[in-house]
Amino acid sequence: MKKKIWIGTNWKMTKTIAEGLDFTHELKKIAEAISPNIQLFIIPSHTSLFPIKEVISGSTIYLGAQNMHWEDSGAYTGEISPRMLDEIGIDMIELGHSERRQYYNETDEAINKKILAALEYSIKPLICIGENIEQKNNLISKETLSAQLKVCLKGLSKEQAKQVVIAYEPVWAIGEQGIPAEVEYVEEIHDFLRQTLIGLFDDTGMEIPVLYGGSVNHDNFLNYINLENVNGLFVGRAAWEIDSFQKILYQLESHLFD
Ligand code: 13P
Repeated sequence: MKKKIWIGTNWKMTKTIAEGLDFTHELKKIAEAISPNIQLFIIPSHTSLFPIKEVISGSTIYLGAQNMHWEDSGAYTGEISPRMLDEIGIDMIELGHSERRQYYNETDEAINKKILAALEYSIKPLICIGENIEQKNNLISKETLSAQLKVCLKGLSKEQAKQVVIAYEPVWAIGEQGIPAEVEYVEEIHDFLRQTLIGLFDDTGMEIPVLYGGSVNHDNFLNYINLENVNGLFVGRAAWEIDSFQKILYQLESHLFD
């Protein structure tokens, strides 16, 4: 049985502060009712971080931000620094989501700098990787993912590697146009990612949680979570309404711990 399951949601650019607070008040009650072996996290927009932090303080829910710069301070209009996020007291930072790679040209090199900066502040990096449909069709998914992992994690010590969480999200599976991935494919890729992490960090590679994301929903989430090398789920649309997220969480709880 798995020691700990991670499950959380990236709200992307959807919720206002008021909407985020309503959701968070409800999630806090759910967090009290479910096993502490389920590590919940929410990743709101920057504007909501501070008010939501006030609500979830003292609960087991981790709070993450969706992006940050790697510098502490400077002439970078529109950016937010690790020092600023640390002041709010966030637990995690989501880095390298495919939408940031696609629309804002975020590179693995930039993500690597952000990871190292986050670790300086003991903010846990949640590092998103994934191949696009062309890469999958050209049968270079594994090469793509291996390169992403190697560059993103460059220069991390084993101690630092223990702090990161990886989210594998195939680009073609994400969002409204996304196609849910076959369970066999997810299994093959997660096994490969585990071997790649062991190649990079020896036994420490066994300890790094690797989550699956991309069109995770009520019908498929248990198939993914049953896989040996899937340590959690990163959910978008199916977790944006609290009732829908609650349904997944209670089902997960009874599946894993009853
Ligand atoms: P969907 O679950 O809506 O496909 O989004 C997944 C995602 O992008 C999580 O970061």
